[in-house]
Amino acid sequence: MTYSSQRHDFADKRAGYEQLAVQLQGLLAGESDPIANAANTTGLIFDALPEVSWVGFYFLRGGELVVGPFQGKPACVRIALGRGVCGTAAARRETIIVPDVNAFPGHIACDAASQSEVVVPLLAADRVLGVLDLDSARLARFDAVDARGLERIAALFVQASRTEELR
Ligand code: SME
Repeated sequence: MTYSSQRHDFADKRAGYEQLAVQLQGLLAGESDPIANAANTTGLIFDALPEVSWVGFYFLRGGELVVGPFQGKPACVRIALGRGVCGTAAARRETIIVPDVNAFPGHIACDAASQSEVVVPLLAADRVLGVLDLDSARLARFDAVDARGLERIAALFVQASRTEELR
């Protein structure tokens, strides 16, 4: 681990995500345990990103999404593929930005305070391994810069980890 705990204020979001990616590479260097890496990835994101109320992983296990390491309030444990924002992002294998969760048909409300959400699929070759999910208590908290930055973080997590152990 060659992690530097230097903080970025995210006033320049792109630069903030660049820095976060570098920090994550340091944090995951030399460690491939997927649970340890997922836990530290959520800790890094939750500590760094402003206005995030929940960040966590759901892993695809036995055909459904099961909650993994996260930061925030306790969450729904199981989500069927195609259900909610998480299940939809996993089924479509694409990132979904939801500016207003109340306007997303089928949104699963784990935390009544959540107003907006972004879900990034975890992709390894042609397989979806799960999702990385972030919630905010502010409407329209997440934009395309967040989506690209979080996709990079998800890819770094997948590359660094023995993801075959998650099934
Ligand atoms: N809102 C998500 C459920 C997971 S929680 O936000 C932690 C969804 O609709 O899939």
